[in-house]
Amino acid sequence: MKETVIVLDFGGQYNQLIARRVRECGVYCEILPYKVSLERIKEIDPKGIIFTGGPNSVYDESSPHYTPDIFSIGVPILGICYGCQLMAYSLGGTVVSAADNSVSEYGKTETGYSDDCVIFSGLPKSGISWMSHRDYISKVPDGFKVTATTAHCPVAAMADAEKKLYGVQFHPEVNHTEHGKEMLKSFLYDVCGCAGNWKMDSFIEDAVEQIKAQVRDRGVVLGLSGGVDSSVAAALLSKAIGKQLTCVFVDQGLMRKNEGDYVEETFTRLFDMNFIRINCQDEFLSKLKGVTDPEEKRGIIGEEFYNVFWNRIRDEYGSGFFAQGTIYPDRIESGKGDAAKIKTHHNQVEIPKDIKFEGIIEPLKDLFKDEVRAVGEKLGLPRELVWRQPFPGPGLGVRVIGEITAERVKTLQEADAILRDEMDKCGYAEKMSQFFAVLPGVRTVGVMGDARTYDELIAIRAVTTDDFMTADWAKIPYDILGKVSNRIINEVEHVNRVVYDITSKPPGTVEWE
Ligand code: XMP
Repeated sequence: MKETVIVLDFGGQYNQLIARRVRECGVYCEILPYKVSLERIKEIDPKGIIFTGGPNSVYDESSPHYTPDIFSIGVPILGICYGCQLMAYSLGGTVVSAADNSVSEYGKTETGYSDDCVIFSGLPKSGISWMSHRDYISKVPDGFKVTATTAHCPVAAMADAEKKLYGVQFHPEVNHTEHGKEMLKSFLYDVCGCAGNWKMDSFIEDAVEQIKAQVRDRGVVLGLSGGVDSSVAAALLSKAIGKQLTCVFVDQGLMRKNEGDYVEETFTRLFDMNFIRINCQDEFLSKLKGVTDPEEKRGIIGEEFYNVFWNRIRDEYGSGFFAQGTIYPDRIESGKGDAAKIKTHHNQVEIPKDIKFEGIIEPLKDLFKDEVRAVGEKLGLPRELVWRQPFPGPGLGVRVIGEITAERVKTLQEADAILRDEMDKCGYAEKMSQFFAVLPGVRTVGVMGDARTYDELIAIRAVTTDDFMTADWAKIPYDILGKVSNRIINEVEHVNRVVYDITSKPPGTVEWE
């Protein structure tokens, strides 16, 4: 049985970060919405519980609360920010609302720690913590001691060591908090008594055993896109069941230059499995002929993919198990608001009603992206595959603006390959979150030799971001951009101009369509 810590989600912005930090400490944790019942929590039998932050005041009518019974089930609890205030409020302390006072703190804050609190033991007596709060605790509940303070905040941390209840007003999960990870580690190991058995090596061994036990002598089919998640799922399944696994890779002709060959070569060379590549560029292009509207193009690409993929699977593999590369963030329920429902995500595929599998296998469903990458590396996937950038499901279809033709796709692939090559050579590729070329469908006048040209334009897009919800355009040095532009114009037919996209998100999106 793996020891589990529950991260109880009250809607804060750093909740996934808390969970990732806990796992980095070698402890498995799950994020559950605050609406989860106490019975369910007891069933899970967690080693500890962490209350997350949240945007509310404990006094808001709509603010998320939890039954105070949770504080007496004998499980250690750490409240962070709102979670700390909720703990204080629920146990009879005093939380002062921003309306009454203005002791709000945002950002890096000098904080003094008491060294007789286990959370801070062995750490310097003062340091920077990351604060983000309006309300504050003015009086701790009976049995609690104040264990940290700042110039403005009388209770920056509190503890009832006997009951193993701890609270911090600041955010230890954020890198700006000095020694924040050590504080979390002290809670997990010294308060909760965790042994730290969440390791990627043992994850692989356990997953292989589980897959074998579930699959027995049956077959498993997996849709392989060549992206990180499905590639790691394929490698893991191959390790567990070898040739009982069939990977179906649909090459719709809208991938990067040589991508289809690279994926096929990698998987057939490195892994034991049946590998099926469906080459269907012509079918896709004929369906897309004359279509220019972005949403219509997306719709056609999605529908065509669905048909091609399932038609192949239906007849030959429509029994046994279906596997997919769902990862943990795809299925976390949000603690925000009442409509706490699971996100639908591109990793989760809709199965046609007439295909009846024995079951679904999602071997990565408990892993964060960085854990998926660690597993991929341990399984021997090449680094460039494990660390590849996100690539949209509709492929170059959303980067060829206007009508998609074989010739225009080729133009874009060639330009994109040059960009990639130059970015790799100068070491900038690794500094970018995502970069690619776009064919905007604009023709401009130029001069080459002594002749007038009237050809296509290539746009270069490069962004840096943590989460792709917002993104900055990347400040690539001019000399690199210059080299890329020169090579594209000289080496790619039908292109006579290159521009650089300097739009952040918002107001732009990363992709152009
Ligand atoms: P946007 O353009 O929405 O892109 O700012 C954010 C991230 O999502 C990727 N993206 C997609 N991924 N199917 C996908 O699987 C899609 O239809 C799709 N559209 C955008 C995009 O590449 C970026 O990483």
